Amino acid sequence: MVGLVASEAPAPLGAREGSTNSARPPPRDSLAAVAELEDQRRRLEKALADLKSTQARLLQAHKLEAIGQLAAGIAHEINTPTQYVTDNVEFLSRAFERLCQLVVASRELLESAKQGAPSSEVLARAEASLANARIDYILTEAPKALQQSVDGLHRVANIVAAMKDFSHPSGGEKAPCDLNEAIASTIIVATNEWKYVAEVETDLDPTLPLVRCLRDEVNQVILNLIVNGAHAIDAVVIGGSKGKGTIRIETTHDGGWAEIRVTDTGCGIPEKARDRVFDPFFTTKPVGKGTGQGLAIAYSVIVEKHRGEISFETELGRGTTFIVRLPVNVHEERFSTFCAPPRPLA
Ligand SMILES: Nc1ncnc2c1ncn2[C@@H]1O[C@H](COP(=O)(O)OP(=O)(O)OP(=O)(O)O)[C@@H](O)[C@H]1O
Ligand SMILES: [Mg+2]
Repeated sequence: MVGLVASEAPAPLGAREGSTNSARPPPRDSLAAVAELEDQRRRLEKALADLKSTQARLLQAHKLEAIGQLAAGIAHEINTPTQYVTDNVEFLSRAFERLCQLVVASRELLESAKQGAPSSEVLARAEASLANARIDYILTEAPKALQQSVDGLHRVANIVAAMKDFSHPSGGEKAPCDLNEAIASTIIVATNEWKYVAEVETDLDPTLPLVRCLRDEVNQVILNLIVNGAHAIDAVVIGGSKGKGTIRIETTHDGGWAEIRVTDTGCGIPEKARDRVFDPFFTTKPVGKGTGQGLAIAYSVIVEKHRGEISFETELGRGTTFIVRLPVNVHEERFSTFCAPPRPLA
């Protein structure tokens, strides 16, 4: 039988010093000390709750700031295809008008041909519409204009889909997420942040399992790493005036972990900054370019909220790789469909 006999039971607090003390009430000093400890505990609990809510507000503020900054870039990205789609549609509309005039003149010519020889006015009108239509020009340019417009609209649709995907709120609930898709969307919404200084390459593992996570927060971590990479490259290529660098994003998985590596060919992290990069508000960037929150938020999201890991490897003058590892929930493992070829149109 398992159990405690009376002599093995732990003595009550305050009774271990000797049997003479056991019956006495605790002295007033201990009561005051206990009350003080209780008070301190409550204050610590409140401080912790305040800290958590400040952290949540900072995360939200940083997110809003990032979205505000991205919004200008996204507007620019959408504006370019919108402009050439507009130009092309205007050209096609003028061409259509001329083709309509040509059809009317051709009908008239046909009618009068059926009734005998067409009059010289009818012939002149038909000739004038044919010349006005610049049919050869339309025949070569219209297909190009249509193709460009279709491409432009696809680009806009891609950007809008990526924005929706990037900003879709998780509502604080973890859900299975395709990290490859999250990376692809984040690269698109951040285009304006990197395109002047870097090319972005990806090597995304098509067998990456879904990872249970707060997708919007993981998206923000990826964004922070891409923007940091772009800034580090900018410091070397000076706004693209010395060519472009590369940001390479890879995913892999091994033994219950999904791994994202973001590598840049930027300036590298100086020795004296390496211990501090995850500290809140540590920044080496001028006001307006950095607030020092990106990596602190990344740490909080990956390590505290997902029990993951974040680390980096860096070499001055060569670049930096940030490595994010997230635990994969094996019960929800399912293979990613990100790299599946698109289905042909029916
Ligand atoms: N890829 C990188 N290459 C070189 N230095 C980096 C890189 N990523 C971060 N750092 C250094 O770490 C510091 C902290 O980065 P963090 O992302 O936390 O803040 P920030 O980029 O300065 O500002 P914020 O992200 O809030 O806009 C940066 O100021 C920079 O000095
Ligand atoms: Mg940053």
